[in-house]
Amino acid sequence: MMRYIQTFFIFLLLFLNLIGCKQQEEQIGDYLEAFSHVDAHSLLSPLRFVNIAHRGGSGYAPEHTIFAYEIGEQLNSDYIEIDLQMTKDGHLVAMHDSDVSRTTNGVGKVKDYTLEELKQLDAGSWFYDKHPHYFQAEFIGATVPTLEEIFNTFGQHANYYIETKTPEMYPDMVHTLIETLESYGFTDPVLPDGKIIIQSFSKDSLLEIHKLAPDIPLIQLLKLDKKAKLSKNELDKIKTYATGIGINYKALTKNMVHDILQAGLLIHPYTVNDKKDMERLLNWGVDGMFTDYPDRLNEVINNKHHK
Ligand code: G3P
Ligand code: CA
Repeated sequence: MMRYIQTFFIFLLLFLNLIGCKQQEEQIGDYLEAFSHVDAHSLLSPLRFVNIAHRGGSGYAPEHTIFAYEIGEQLNSDYIEIDLQMTKDGHLVAMHDSDVSRTTNGVGKVKDYTLEELKQLDAGSWFYDKHPHYFQAEFIGATVPTLEEIFNTFGQHANYYIETKTPEMYPDMVHTLIETLESYGFTDPVLPDGKIIIQSFSKDSLLEIHKLAPDIPLIQLLKLDKKAKLSKNELDKIKTYATGIGINYKALTKNMVHDILQAGLLIHPYTVNDKKDMERLLNWGVDGMFTDYPDRLNEVINNKHHK
């Protein structure tokens, strides 16, 4: 009798497993269907996972300096992430904050500096206090790079994930950005899909870009608290102008990942620096991650593939 009961439960488990697999296959099928218009070789393909060097390899070098971007490349990230601010005389520069005081030896707003004045600031020495063990003497005196300098340094072989920061402070930011991209040939349709991605927390900024350059893929950044939910209606609205969503990984749940993917949107959580979090998010099926440590993310990806 015991043996019959055991056999019954084994068959029951196999049956339930089969149903589970079938459902999973159907879900994956739906998801791939939503992206059927995207070339599988594109950086935007849901079959391609992307490693985004957040502010460069900013765990190892002062954020948004050429040093940080170089380290990001050396650590085999797919994208250089750049936050944009704008100087008084209209130059786009890479800096996260609209105020220079956290990451340079200056004080005040970027918008009140000319480029020449901004270039006098030391954007590297502060890193010693944050990460003394990764500090290198060459960081002292690093300058704030312009977007053009970054393009001149890393050229067309690199991929750029650019954020319009506080665009409400800079009415000309979007125009200047699009003009700069055009002048470097980054809006050329022969380039791989996703070579340039533009992200913003500002929906208005993304809509302005979408109007001027509808082929540039956009990522809507969201700041959500831990209990937040995204409705299907909200996701459908975002889908009208954006290719995907960038979201604080701490606010993300497995169900939210599922809903975002089902809506046909990519999902790139930020800023993930712990390997356990990276593993969990990979298992949930996210399409890429922002990290200060691209080498850690590559290790997690490689380990997963070798299992
Ligand atoms: O762009 C994704 C992520 O970088 C957003 O956060 O504040 O680091 O720009 P933040
Ligand atoms: Ca950013």
